[in-house]
Amino acid sequence: MSSSKVKASAKIKKHQTLGTDVYEMWIENKAIADNAKVGQFVALYCRDGSRLLPRPISICEINKATHSIRLVYRVFGAGTQEVSCYVEGELIDVLGPLGNGFDLKDNQVSVIMGGGIGIPPLLELCKQLKGEKHIFLGYRDTLFLADEFEQYGKVYVATEDGNVGHKGNVMTLLKEQNLKIDQLYACGPKGMLKAIQDYALNNTIPAQLSVEEKMACGIGACLGCICETKDETMKNKRVCKEGPVFLAEEVAL
Ligand SMILES: Cc1cc2nc3c(=O)[nH]c(=O)nc-3n(C[C@H](O)[C@H](O)[C@H](O)COP(=O)(O)OP(=O)(O)OC[C@H]3O[C@@H](n4cnc5c(N)ncnc54)[C@H](O)[C@@H]3O)c2cc1C
Ligand code: FES
Repeated sequence: MSSSKVKASAKIKKHQTLGTDVYEMWIENKAIADNAKVGQFVALYCRDGSRLLPRPISICEINKATHSIRLVYRVFGAGTQEVSCYVEGELIDVLGPLGNGFDLKDNQVSVIMGGGIGIPPLLELCKQLKGEKHIFLGYRDTLFLADEFEQYGKVYVATEDGNVGHKGNVMTLLKEQNLKIDQLYACGPKGMLKAIQDYALNNTIPAQLSVEEKMACGIGACLGCICETKDETMKNKRVCKEGPVFLAEEVAL
């Protein structure tokens, strides 16, 4: 294990719901918070022995002063259901920080696009990235974190049911704006990333896409999270190690 990532117990400083089945959890661990970079993730270990594999969750915010990181997650299956019951003051076993993270291109016109539970890692990105920012957030129905993005740039919201903001997806919303984009960053479901990849390649816009794959070890040892790339020397890359962030021209979605 490299010196920058550790497996450690972290103290749960704050844990509350942000909406239906969506929770925020601030956890404190100096080694993890000090080394954390934008777009990286951590792996959470459950206490129930039947759930051996750690669950990957993106780093939503980093507070180096308090040695803590914020995670925002949706209850999906048994592991995240278990974690949602942990209370403030308890400890949780965490491995991280993991993955490569985003490469920040400052002082440009940046478009940041998030879908669903791909939105959380974009908050720290928007906080750290300098320059003009246009932030497109796509939700199924209920919003979370949207108001927090407003301090960092212009926010455009799309919901599938049209309950709030634009009815439809972030891609149609982006096309309507006709922006001159220098750099694009995105995280979300594969269909959305594929549409963004096509748009970026067709319009020669540099884009960084954070890709999600099912994971087992989280540290590059099991090859369980392979995705195909156009790199001839290393065709199959590990999302947990060489990713989760890939260039649009590099990854096959
Ligand atoms: C790099 C990365 C970052 C992520 N960040 C977030 C986040 O910030 N917030 C959030 O809500 N979700 C995030 N996810 C998805 C999250 O990891 C899964 O929802 C979670 O692992 C499901 O675990 P479970 O025990 O609740 O579900 P189960 O279905 O019981 O999980 C069974 C197994 O499959 C794995 N698994 C299931 N779905 C996924 C998935 N989509 N990705 C990876 N492994 C999966 C689990 O880790 C576990 O080992 C991220 C996934 C990846 C790969
Ligand atoms: S999850 Fe094991 S190599 Fe990525």
